[in-house]
Parts: sequence; structure tokens; C-alpha cells
Amino acid sequence: MEDILVVEGLTKTFGGLAAVKEVSFRVRPNVIKAIIGPNGAGKTTLFDLLTGLYRADRGRAIFQGKEILGLQPHRIAALGIARTFQTVRVFPEMTVRENVMVGLHHRARAGMFASALRFPRARREEAWMWEESLAYLDMVGLEMQAENRAGSLPFGQQRLLEVARALATAPRLLLLDEPAAGLNDYETRELGEIIKRIRDGGVTVLLVEHDMALVMSISEEVLVLDHGEVISEGTPEEVRNDPRVIEAYLGTEIGA
Ligand SMILES: Nc1ncnc2c1ncn2[C@@H]1O[C@H](COP(=O)(O)OP(=O)(O)O)[C@@H](O)[C@H]1O
Ligand SMILES: [Mg+2]
Repeated sequence: MEDILVVEGLTKTFGGLAAVKEVSFRVRPNVIKAIIGPNGAGKTTLFDLLTGLYRADRGRAIFQGKEILGLQPHRIAALGIARTFQTVRVFPEMTVRENVMVGLHHRARAGMFASALRFPRARREEAWMWEESLAYLDMVGLEMQAENRAGSLPFGQQRLLEVARALATAPRLLLLDEPAAGLNDYETRELGEIIKRIRDGGVTVLLVEHDMALVMSISEEVLVLDHGEVISEGTPEEVRNDPRVIEAYLGTEIGA
């Protein structure tokens, strides 16, 4: 099958510092591909470039055959790329369900005016959104919390809520930025199962993550960045044994 994402020579500098430097890689559809690397390696910046938050200095990013660099974030989202952020960004005063509906709204066809006037189509759409939002909450195990205030959820569940909201935009490619950060061992294992289920449901996953046990257990492929550059790429086993990777992680344990 054709690669879902092809990145070539992607480069972004911040005042002379190359945060992402000539990065090239490919992503096959329906895999979990991890992106790892020490702090400051350029992982988040890479996601920011792929989602249109930053403009690349040069390079290409072809998603499902279409160049996405230079497009506005909402255009890229509409093409089928969703993400979560390293720091949780749920709307704390809204309910859990309403947070997911924010993701769904990007897909709903009736405009705000129609909803306000309760046109029949808008009402149908509301019922549809109700059902859909529950389905996405079910995928991350939060359906019982649907009517709770998002801000009242424990931290780990707020992260899962963000995943559900991203899924509600019906992406083909999901970018997860350190989803296991701050989760305990049990929550991390649960998260791993959820990410695998997402992949099995036909969504390709790019996973930025520091938890090597999680990365090594669920990823088909691993890309390693250091100082903005790709230093290794391969299966978890290949990458784990790559001397360049071991050097970059010197003093830290890989796959512990
Ligand atoms: N908006 C910005 N302005 C200046 N420097 C930035 C900005 N964003 C990231 N950087 C720098 O780019 C490098 C890569 O950062 P980042 O992509 O956040 O790394 P990672 O996510 O791998 O920890 C770091 O040196 C960081 O300080
Ligand atoms: Mg980061």
C-alpha cells in the first residue's frame, strides 16, 4: 500500500538553531510509528510543522498524495490529521461529552445558525453527535464520565479525553505527543491497548513518547531524532541496538 505520509528534507530553524534539520521519513498506513529522542530533539516541532502551527523553512510533507506544508491548520485537520498536545488542553469547564463534541463539530454540516434555530437537519445532527461522542468516549473507556466536568477528571483521564476529541475529527493520521507523560504504569498499559485499538480501527499513529517500554511494545517502526536530525530508523529491535541511538541516550536506559 502507498505510504500515507512522506516527509522529505523538512527543516525549521529558530533564530539560527535548527530544531528540525533535513528530516526525511515515510509512514506506511495502519502502523504505529514511534518518534523518540532526547529532550529538545525536535519531536514536538516536527508535529507543529505537520499540523501547520509552524511554517517550515524548506522541505515537503505529502499526506495521502497531497502537499500539506503551507496549509492552514484547519485545512490540514480537514484532510485527516489530528493531534494531541504535550500539555493537556481539555476545556475544563465543559463536560467530557462536550469536549468530544468540539472535535465532532469540525465534521458537522449544519452551521451555527441552523443549530440555533433548531432546523430539523440541525436536530438530526445533534442526535448524531450525541451518539458519536459516546462512541469515541467508549473507545478510550470514558463513557461513564460523559456528563462530568472535564476539569474534574484525574490527569490521566484528561489525556484520554484529548485522544477521544482528536479521534472525533475522524483522522486518518493521529499524532500523539507524549500521551503517557504523567500516567502511572497501569494507565500506561491501558493507553497502549487503546492506541493499538485505534491503529486496528484503521488510523495510522505517530507516537512521540519517552516511555520506552510502551514504545517498544506497541510500535511497528521507530524513528529516532537527535538535535533535529534523524539518527536511526527501523524496527524497535533494530533501533534499540543501534550504537548511534545508544550514544544519544548515553546515561539513560532504553527499553527498560
Ligand atoms: N517557538 C520556539 N522558539 C524558539 N525555539 C524553539 C521553539 N520551539 C522549539 N524550540 C527549540 O527547538 C528545539 C526542539 O524543541 P522541541 O521540538 O520542543 O523538542 P522535543 O519535543 O523533542 O523535546 C529545542 O532546542 C527548543 O528549545
Ligand atoms: Mg516535545
